[in-house]
Amino acid sequence: MGEREVTLPQFYAQDLARLDTMARRRGLALPRGRDFSSNDYLALAGSDALRDAAMRALERGVPMGSGGSRLLRGHRAEHARVEEDAARFFGSEAALFMSTGFAANSLLFSTLPQKEDCIFHDALIHASAHEGMRLSRAERRGFAHNDVDAAADAIAQWRASGGSGTPWIAFETLYSMDGDIAPVAEFAALARAVGAMLFIDEAHAVGVYGPQGRGLASGLQGEEHAIVLATCGKALGCEGALVLCSDVIRDFLINRGRGFIFSTAPSPLMAAVVGDALRLIAGGDDLRQRLRTRVQGAADRFAALGIVLSGSQIQPVVIGEEARTMEIAAALQAEGFDIRGIRPPTVPEGTARLRLSITLNSDEEDMDALIQAMERLL
Ligand SMILES: Cc1ncc(COP(=O)(O)O)c(C=O)c1O
Repeated sequence: MGEREVTLPQFYAQDLARLDTMARRRGLALPRGRDFSSNDYLALAGSDALRDAAMRALERGVPMGSGGSRLLRGHRAEHARVEEDAARFFGSEAALFMSTGFAANSLLFSTLPQKEDCIFHDALIHASAHEGMRLSRAERRGFAHNDVDAAADAIAQWRASGGSGTPWIAFETLYSMDGDIAPVAEFAALARAVGAMLFIDEAHAVGVYGPQGRGLASGLQGEEHAIVLATCGKALGCEGALVLCSDVIRDFLINRGRGFIFSTAPSPLMAAVVGDALRLIAGGDDLRQRLRTRVQGAADRFAALGIVLSGSQIQPVVIGEEARTMEIAAALQAEGFDIRGIRPPTVPEGTARLRLSITLNSDEEDMDALIQAMERLL
């Protein structure tokens, strides 16, 4: 092994300097200005309703920490209850509560597909799915974004070249950086036709779409071959994730999933509040209607600016060049809008963008002011 010529801290500093020259160095910035960047679509995160839910839980003695792995003393009544509530609400046989969506995807992709299987994933699938696939023994192949025919061709090629296990089809229902929606029913039909399992990530759709906010995959959650991920840190305004699956898959994850076994159970307090968040979204048709009206109103104004519409509450404005993207984001921030620039590798090369998120934390007036500022800056 060759010796490194610089010390590790020097290496880190050089790497950061390289990111600087590429306008890719990131830093942490507190929320400031009107919210056009969070995933708190229904404005539940800071709501009185969830604060009250947390207070009530604390008053009845729900502990802050679980104190251990779910397989040891960390398993609490609040975990069991939120999983029962989630399974009933989404219509799945079972549910498993995890501390984050990233941890859940990492667990699912690394644990479920086996050596002879192959995971066929959308080209734009989230980093957490890639993390799980990296740890998986199964082969993986990407297919063009939202392209069901490309997925079908890839599976057929794999079979023709001797692929003998189960194909897995992995996609998101609403893409976090593009705001576009997957052809969910067509992927489900393909899975049925070729005997595939489905990984469906509903991170940005749960709470916002579907009957009672059950998501764009509502109806598939009860199917044996579908594993659906509902995250709790976005429209639900909390933290964590619910894996919606069959009893046997839940049991397998509990017995074989390293990220489940060797990790402290999520906070029972959070589990209790997530239960309340599920009830809030179930009764949240008025919130969803308000958000929809806001998105439609924004769409007309974006279209007038020549921005290609995503059709959802996530609206990217692709700038392309990274430094320019960050300059425009900074200018908008200086005018009081919390808008963040998104650069590669989070998005493909050459597609640096502003990611606008429409939430109930901002109102019509905020949107009008933003459009005026964008007109000037773009
Ligand atoms: C599509 C998708 N899946 C999973 C995750 C991870 O979820 P969490 O933020 O709860 O870790 C995210 C978060 O950005 C996401 O956008």
